[in-house]
Amino acid sequence: MRVACAPGKVILSGEHAVVYGAPALALAVDRHMRVYYEPDKLPRLSWHAQERTHVLGLDKFSALRRRLDSHFDRYLRGELSVTQILRKPAELAFYAVDMARMLSGLEHLPRGSVRIDSDIPIGAGMGSSAALIAALLTLFGQVDDLDELIRQVHHCERLQHGRGSLIDAATVCSGGLVRLQEGKISRLDTESMDLGKGWFWVFTGTPASSTGACVERVRRGFEHSAIWSEYSDITQQIETALLSGEPVMELIRANHRLLTRIGVVPAPLVRFAEQVEQHGGAAKIAGAGSVSGDSGGLMLLWLPEGTPADLSLLPDWHWGELKEEKSGVRVIDT
Ligand code: MEV
Repeated sequence: MRVACAPGKVILSGEHAVVYGAPALALAVDRHMRVYYEPDKLPRLSWHAQERTHVLGLDKFSALRRRLDSHFDRYLRGELSVTQILRKPAELAFYAVDMARMLSGLEHLPRGSVRIDSDIPIGAGMGSSAALIAALLTLFGQVDDLDELIRQVHHCERLQHGRGSLIDAATVCSGGLVRLQEGKISRLDTESMDLGKGWFWVFTGTPASSTGACVERVRRGFEHSAIWSEYSDITQQIETALLSGEPVMELIRANHRLLTRIGVVPAPLVRFAEQVEQHGGAAKIAGAGSVSGDSGGLMLLWLPEGTPADLSLLPDWHWGELKEEKSGVRVIDT
């Protein structure tokens, strides 16, 4: 059996703004997507995920790829919405397996069964789609160059996220703290960074709107707005503060206010951020947020005193300490 593993990610600053050329900072975290592959001789690949099995004959892969590429083109022409590109999540996995074969110039598709095991919450802004694709491309392809791998993950991910940035792909592939601006990816040196005590994530439930839908809505309202240069300054200052151990509280608070202005922070999360501020901390969404419903995916908390257990969280919310994962996607021996 072969296994590939990719970390999840948390955006520290710059979500949405990165789509308009501002920098974004994201941290790979200690949550993982593991993909297990058991080969056999039958001419099909079976995909086991979330208690369901999907089977695709090897002769069907290229037709699926062509259909999804054409759906994406129709999405770009405004004929389909971003959520109509894929019919079911398994299609993204089969597409990535076929891309792995094409990119690596391999003649044959893998036969056998693939199973996933993940503690990255789905649809939470923690990079589960990018981690899945990165693991599949690494397991079934031979892409040695990291930048190329990131671009290929991003290429597959577009079927899920539409016109998104490289931030998820870059972070899950390279691990550690990643900065992205205008397509340029840098891995930052975190040796001197103390992300230890005081940083948490809180998962507020799967957002009612997908990342793609949030990006579209923000585009309609703010594509040409001056807000992105304000956002750019804040992200720059957060990077400097993190790497030099300076206070981040006011910066995270300011970041939250920008996200509220662009309409991606549901009302219960605005109230929660107020509560965190009253406890002497700061909170912001970390990811796309949501443009409908009461859940907003992931929030990032800076809470110098206590933990999220001291706050009144809604019953289905859960939280953890923010911990860096230094390794990006890799094949692991079993
Ligand atoms: C989603 O994880 C982050 C967004 O900035 C979209 C993107 O960068 O692709 C909202």
